[in-house]
Amino acid sequence: MAALPPSRIVAIYPGSFDPITNGHLDLISRGSKLADRLIVAVLQNQRKQSLFTVAERVEMLTEVVKPYANVEVGSFHGLLVDYVAARGANFILRGIRAISDYEYELQIAHMNRLLSPGVETVFLMAAEAYSFVSSQLVKEVASLGGNVSGLVPPLIEERLKSRVAK
Ligand code: PNS
Repeated sequence: MAALPPSRIVAIYPGSFDPITNGHLDLISRGSKLADRLIVAVLQNQRKQSLFTVAERVEMLTEVVKPYANVEVGSFHGLLVDYVAARGANFILRGIRAISDYEYELQIAHMNRLLSPGVETVFLMAAEAYSFVSSQLVKEVASLGGNVSGLVPPLIEERLKSRVAK
């Protein structure tokens, strides 16, 4: 019997990443071991007010994912499933921190499967150490002068400090 061609896993990890936290980075690190290619995709969302522009977030992510040879960064607008198709991907990667994330993620996953039945969403449980970490909380703490080291990569900590100082 002829050998089957190896199936390639191309996964999209979408999100706002405003900014990337160590929780996101942990997911990228673990996701990069599961996928042949992992594309971290920043949503261009005009309705959501952000601290960093999409270009800044892409630039910061690109810097932070440099150690991972099979990870790249992009951005998208419109439907996620359309971006998945455009990039030739077959999986969506998302993280779940707590039960509170579950309902939201379930809705998105069901909607995406309805829109594009061939695309599977794969969830990884967030590392325990980062299960309480969100971009929102990190921004709030940083803006009030609190210490966010250990919660975000050092480069992001610097960028946060200079942004909230303005
Ligand atoms: O980091 P976030 O803000 O929780 O990420 C949310 C994201 C980007 C995964 C979600 O908002 C998204 O995929 N938006 C694109 C629009 C879309 O496809 N909507 C239909 C499915 S919910």
